[in-house]
Amino acid sequence: MWIAQRREGGFGLITPHGGLLVNQLMTEAEKNRLQAERLPTVTLDAWAYADIQCIGIGAFSPLTGFMNEADYESVVSNMKLADGTIWSLPITLAVSEEEAARVRLGERIALCCAEGVARAVMRVESVYRPNKRIEAQQVYKTTEIAHPGVQKLYERGAFYLGGPISIVEEPRGGPFNADYYTPRQARAFFHKQGWKTIVGFQTRNPIHRAHEYIQKTALEMVDGLFLHPLVGETKADDVPAQVRMDSYKTLLKHYYPQERVLMGVFPAAMRYAGPREAVFHALVRKNYGCSHFIVGRDHAGVGDYYGTYEAQEIFNQFNAEQLGISLLFFENSFYCNRCSGMASYKTCPHSSSEHVVLSGTKVRKMLREGIKPPAEFSRPEVADILIDALRSRDS
Ligand code: ADX
Repeated sequence: MWIAQRREGGFGLITPHGGLLVNQLMTEAEKNRLQAERLPTVTLDAWAYADIQCIGIGAFSPLTGFMNEADYESVVSNMKLADGTIWSLPITLAVSEEEAARVRLGERIALCCAEGVARAVMRVESVYRPNKRIEAQQVYKTTEIAHPGVQKLYERGAFYLGGPISIVEEPRGGPFNADYYTPRQARAFFHKQGWKTIVGFQTRNPIHRAHEYIQKTALEMVDGLFLHPLVGETKADDVPAQVRMDSYKTLLKHYYPQERVLMGVFPAAMRYAGPREAVFHALVRKNYGCSHFIVGRDHAGVGDYYGTYEAQEIFNQFNAEQLGISLLFFENSFYCNRCSGMASYKTCPHSSSEHVVLSGTKVRKMLREGIKPPAEFSRPEVADILIDALRSRDS
C-alpha cells in the first residue's frame, strides 16, 4: 500500500494531482464574447464530450485541455506528461482530416455537442496525426480490433487537436443530476462530514457481494467511502448506467451505513485499458478528494487481455510521491461455504469447490430467465432490479 504524504489542498484534503484543482469554466465575459463571434466548429463524440466536462470541473487536473503532441507522445511512451507528471491515458480530441484542415494554430474553435450547441472553446495549440497502432499497443497492450477500447480508438478521426479549453456551463450530470458532484463539491461534502480519509471505488458493473466485501473491508480502515460509478459510454453488453444506479441505491439503502458513504457519478467514458486505466482512475479520484483507492482483480479489464493482477502491479513503477494517493489492493474475492463468509484467495484456505463464483455469462443467463443468483453472490434486492430491467428491455 502506498502512503499518501501530503494532506493539504482543497478543504484540507489530499492535494489534487499536479498541485492545483483545475477550473476551466468560462467567465460571463467569455460567454458574451462567444455569442458575438462565429468560430470554426468541431463536433464532439461521446468520449470527448465527457472529457470536456471532466477537464472543465478539474476531475482531470492538471489537464486544462486536450493533449498537445508533446504531452501525447510522452504519455503514450512513458505514462508521463511532458513535464514529468504521471498520467497514463491519452486525453485527445480526434477529428477527421477535413476538420483538421479547417483549423489554424493559435485560433479558437468551438467544440459542439451532437445537437450543434457550443459546449466549450479551445485554443488550438497543436494539430497532429497520431500513430494509432503504437497508441493501441502502448495503452491497451493490443492492436486487436476486438478490444472495445482499440475499436473505438480506430473508429475516431485520424487527427488530434490539442490545446486548453474552457467550458460554457458547469455540467449538472444530465439524468444523474441528483448524484452529480464536481471534485470541489465532493471535497466540500467530505469536509462537512469531518472525513479525513476517504476511499474511492470505481465501478462499471452492478455491485455484487465481492464488490461490497472489498468496499466494506476498505471502509474499516478509513473515514468514508466514495462510491463513484462510471456513467459515461460503456460497451453495449455492459449493464446500462441507469439500471446500475438503481441497483446501487437499493444496495446502499439496505446494507450500507448512510452516514459513511457518498455516491456520485463519474462522467467519463470507459476505455477498458486495464492497468493504465487503473492508474488514471486512481489519479482522478485523488482530484475528487480521495486519500485511498481500491484496485481489485482485473480492474478495468475486458476479455482476457490483462493478467488478473496487472492493474495492481503497474503501480510498482511509481513512488508514493508521484502518485500521491494510497492504493488498497484486493485479491479475487468470493463467498466461501466452509468459511461461511466472504473471503479471498489471500485469506481462504479452502478449495475452489467451496467458493460461490459465477461467470458473467452464467449470471446474465440466470437473470434473463428470471432466476436470482444465490444470495451469497448477489443481494436479492439487486437481482430483482436487474431481472426487471432485462424483462422490460426484452419485452
Ligand atoms: S471495472 O471495469 O470498473 O474495474 P467492476 O465494476 O467489475 O469493473 O470492478 C470494480 C472494482 O472491483 C475494480 O477495482 C475491480 O478490480 C474490483 N473487483 C471486481 N470484482 C472483484 C472480485 N471478485 N474480487 C476482487 N475485486 C473485484
